[in-house]
Amino acid sequence: MPFAHPQGCRTYLVADPVSKQALALDVHLDLVDDVAERARSEGWKLPYVVDTHTHADHPSGAGTLADRFHSTRIAHELAQHVGVTRHPSDGEILHLGDQPVTVRHARGHTPDHIVLVTDKALFSGDTIHIGGVARTDFLGGDAGQLFDSVHRLLADLADETVLFPGHDYQGRGQSTLGQEKQTNPWLAISDRDDFVRELTANPPPRPANMDDLLRLNREGIDIPDTVSAEEAVRLVEAGGASSVIDVRTGAEFDAEHVPGARLVPLDKLAQRADEVRATAAPRLLLCRTGSRAAIAKKTLAALHVSGLTVVDGGIEAFRNAGGETEKGRDRMSLERQVRILAGALSLLGVGLGAFVHPGFLALAAFISAGLVFAGVTDWCGMGLLLAKAPWNQSSSENAENAAAAPAACAASAPTAGCAASVPSSGKVIT
Ligand SMILES: [Fe+2]
Repeated sequence: MPFAHPQGCRTYLVADPVSKQALALDVHLDLVDDVAERARSEGWKLPYVVDTHTHADHPSGAGTLADRFHSTRIAHELAQHVGVTRHPSDGEILHLGDQPVTVRHARGHTPDHIVLVTDKALFSGDTIHIGGVARTDFLGGDAGQLFDSVHRLLADLADETVLFPGHDYQGRGQSTLGQEKQTNPWLAISDRDDFVRELTANPPPRPANMDDLLRLNREGIDIPDTVSAEEAVRLVEAGGASSVIDVRTGAEFDAEHVPGARLVPLDKLAQRADEVRATAAPRLLLCRTGSRAAIAKKTLAALHVSGLTVVDGGIEAFRNAGGETEKGRDRMSLERQVRILAGALSLLGVGLGAFVHPGFLALAAFISAGLVFAGVTDWCGMGLLLAKAPWNQSSSENAENAAAAPAACAASAPTAGCAASVPSSGKVIT
């Protein structure tokens, strides 16, 4: 049972319907709730949670899921992940009821890479992709070893074997090894030296936030709910600007923003949650002072988006901590607009109540009650309404377009994910 993630990652539940035992494979942190709900609705036990390798492009949800189901976590011994208690050797068999699942060591993308083989399917992780192969330019990857691993799998498994890859950046779900032999340009390269030369010629850019993700995945550290502005500056300077989600209005974004940040205004978060999912965790939620970012975190968490961190103090603290910002035409902040409008309506209510009809005092009372409610709950309806006003929209086409791009970014993510580029001798087969 596959679960696709907008980052191009693919998570699987592999189940034996007779014994109702299942294993979860390469669980993205954002997909933990979906996988858990599905396993529970099917009545499946989850004795194993497996990572095919140390993920460098996304946070693993293996630890979180295994804790919920009291599962045994599995990875290769070279992975050295905190919380992993079983390190299968090459050829070792896991049992889901009477169904065997064979673990095979398949080095190349990383030294710690394993794949899973059932009687009908290959869960290939980052070895063979549909129309491609994995990259090998970081974490001790080795193109020659990948060539050996790939061709060993192709030689040992039948052409009818269904291929379920660990990533697909074009929304494809599965293939077969026979189909890949005919169409995958990387498998058409029969000479090992040619393969190595092609694969190492033009390595794509490293995944965003790679060092932080490696630390999280190896040490099993939870992504913090909040970070100080100083820590946010460090994360952005380490290359994570594309993971800054700015939830203020477009007009505030135009006035000042973190270069490379993605604008997803608070009132549009629900419709555009996939854009947030498509960015690499840890994702920094930024607003003016931190209040709207906290609301955004709750909104996104309800939509099963994880790996979210509120920047304490917002962009003002970020700037004061030495963070780089880009300034445009100064615009009035949403908070200031709320204060002015609330004050004006209260004055209007009092004035009309005194000189026209006492019933107008209800307006002032209503505004006062609304302000108390906003203060207690940290939810401001007036702010949300004002955010939709035309003068609070971005005048910059680029800001909105950049925000609308992540789905396409995920579709073309081989340059930032785990896939190799296309070999010069081949072409993309779709
Ligand atoms: Fe990978």
